[in-house]
Order: sequence, then structure tokens, then C-alpha cells
Amino acid sequence: MKPYLIAPSILSADFARLGEDVANVLAAGADVVHFDVMDNHYVPNLTIGPMVCKALRDYGITAPIDVHLMVKPVDRIIPDFAKAGASIITFHPEASEHPDRTLQLIKEHGCQAGLVLNPATSLHYLDHVMDKLDIILLMSVNPGFGGQSFIPATLDKLRQVRQRIQQSGRDIRLEVDGGVKTDNIRQIADAGADMFVAGSAIFDQPDYAAVIARMRQELDS
Ligand code: DX5
Ligand code: ZN
Repeated sequence: MKPYLIAPSILSADFARLGEDVANVLAAGADVVHFDVMDNHYVPNLTIGPMVCKALRDYGITAPIDVHLMVKPVDRIIPDFAKAGASIITFHPEASEHPDRTLQLIKEHGCQAGLVLNPATSLHYLDHVMDKLDIILLMSVNPGFGGQSFIPATLDKLRQVRQRIQQSGRDIRLEVDGGVKTDNIRQIADAGADMFVAGSAIFDQPDYAAVIARMRQELDS
């Protein structure tokens, strides 16, 4: 596995020219496209669905697409995202009646599967499903909006999850989402994360390559 992955959140991209903007951020050195799906029900905002994911594939985007589902109910949208070209699908366990079944459903559709834990969501949700997880996403802001500040208590939670991954002996990615910037990414990596979502930190700057290079420099330091 590549040690560190940088996943720009397209929530902060230019939706009027999304294909081009996503192609640019990948050319600037990003590894994964983070695709935020909000339903104005589970979270108080509304974004994009499988049609947009398919449109990115049709445009020629070949990088992995990491679909972060902030929707309730979860299951019925999973086949559509798999068909639309999703590579990874993560969901919030509180939004699913049967998280174990949802994880299986994602895998049956050929995608990597993961749980997302909000800042105040207990790690108990990881009990009994570690064997089915390819990825764990810790939210370092409350979901719904880009541009919020990193919640420092996430660092301790990251350390605890990293320990649980080590104990499991499995190769599970530990992703962090919310308020990741060039000046805190090193600290977040030190706490155990190996995949970094960054929306506003990248898309609000004119030179994506410079921000991503700076992030990698911090990670290598
Ligand atoms: C928030 C989303 C994030 C968001 C991150 O609910 O899941 O992916 O876009 O944005 P920044 O990096 O600006 O905090
Ligand atoms: Zn996200």
C-alpha cells in the first residue's frame, strides 16, 4: 500500500466545470477523489449523486473515487454508486439499520467498504466488523460542510483506532476528513492517519500542485 494518500474533497471544487477541476487536482498530484454525498436529511446540506460520479468516469477520470455517503437510508443507493464507478464506499453506521449488511452489500458490488465515525460517535461501532473493513474514516469536523476547523479530540481517537487496526493484523486504511491543512497534516499523520481528505485547503488555493507538494513535504518530514 502507498503509505500516504491525499484525497481532495470535491465539495470545494468548481461544480460548473467539475471534470476539468478534478482532472487538474489529479494532475497536481492527488491520489484519490473524495466524493461527498449529502441528502439534506442525515446532514443539513445537499450535494451530488451517482450521475455525477458516472459523469466524472465518462469524462475520463480513472483515479479511485472515494464515495463518502452522508445519507439515510444507505443501502438503496449503493448499487447505483457501484455502477457509476465508485471505488470505495463509506457510510455512517448510525444511518444504516444493519451496518454489517451494508458493508457486505458494498463488497458484493465490488467496492472497498468502510465506516465513517463522527466526532461524537463511539468506537464501539467497530466491534464485530473489523474483518469486513477496508477503511475507517474518522470525521474531524461534524459532517455537512467544508471549511470547518479540525476538532483536536480527533487526534486521540485516531491513536485509538490505529491501535485497534494494529491489533486486528489487517491492512485497513485510516482516513481523516475535515479541517486538514498543510500546518496540521503532520500531526494528524503522527496520530495514525494514512489517508487525508482536504477540500478547502486545496481548492481555495490557485496552485493545487503547490499545496499538495507542501502536504507531501510535511508527511515526509
Ligand atoms: C464534510 C465533508 C468533507 C469536507 C471537508 O462533511 O465530508 O469531506 O468537504 O472539507 P474541508 O477540508 O474544507 O474541511
Ligand atoms: Zn467527506
